[in-house]
Amino acid sequence: KIMGVVIINFKAYREGSGKQALELAKIAENVASRVDDYIAIAPPTIDLAEIINAVSIDVYAQHVDAVDFGSHTGRITAEMVKEKGAKGSLINHSERRLRLADIDFLVSKFKELGLVSIVCTNNVATTAAAAALNPDYVAVEPPELIGSGIPVSKAEPETVENSVKAAKDVNPNVKVLCGAGIGRHEDYVTALDLGADGVLLASGIVKAKDPKAALEELVGLR
Ligand code: G3P
Repeated sequence: KIMGVVIINFKAYREGSGKQALELAKIAENVASRVDDYIAIAPPTIDLAEIINAVSIDVYAQHVDAVDFGSHTGRITAEMVKEKGAKGSLINHSERRLRLADIDFLVSKFKELGLVSIVCTNNVATTAAAAALNPDYVAVEPPELIGSGIPVSKAEPETVENSVKAAKDVNPNVKVLCGAGIGRHEDYVTALDLGADGVLLASGIVKAKDPKAALEELVGLR
C-alpha cells in the first residue's frame, strides 16, 4: 500500500476560490479520512480562515510576505496566517518567486512560530539550495510542466530523482515533494518510487470535472 504526502494548491482558480474552495476543502477532508496518505490543501489566503474552521485536515497558505508586523499596506505576515490556524505555507512558488534572503527569512521565522515551510523550486540546483536553508519540505516543479497535464514524474523522472538526492545530501531531514502535471494515481506512485515523499498538485484536481473522483483516483481509491 502506497502512502505519501498530497498537497493540493488551489492557486487563484475560480474553481478553488470562495464557495468552491470550501466545497473542494470538504472533498479533500472526506477523501483524507479514507486513506493513510497525508492530504492537505492550500486555498487562497482570503478563504483561509473560513476553511480552517470548516475542515479538520491541515490547511496551508499559498504565500506569506517576508515582513514582520508593521507599516506594510496589503501584506500578510506569517503571524497572521498562524493566528488563523494555518499549518504553514508554500514559499517561493514559481508563480510567486521570492529573493533568496526573503526565503531564508521566512523559513527561519516559520521555525520560530512552529509553522511548516514548503519551499518550491524549479530545478535540481535550486532544490539543493533551498534544502540548505533547512525548511520542512522542498517541492520541485519544472515551470514548463506546471498546468500542462504532463506529469513531471513521467516526463522528467531524473529531475525528481536527482532533486531527492541533492536535497537529502545537503539536508537528510528535509522532505521532498515534486509537482507539475500530476493528476493520476500512476503519476503519484511513480513520484514515490523515484524517492519523493509526495506530490504538490493543482489543476489535475482543482480543474477536474469531478474533483472528488479525481482525488479518489489519485490516491488509489478507484
Ligand atoms: O503548486 C502546484 C502546481 O504548481 C502544479 O500545478 O496544475 O501542474 O498540478 P499543476
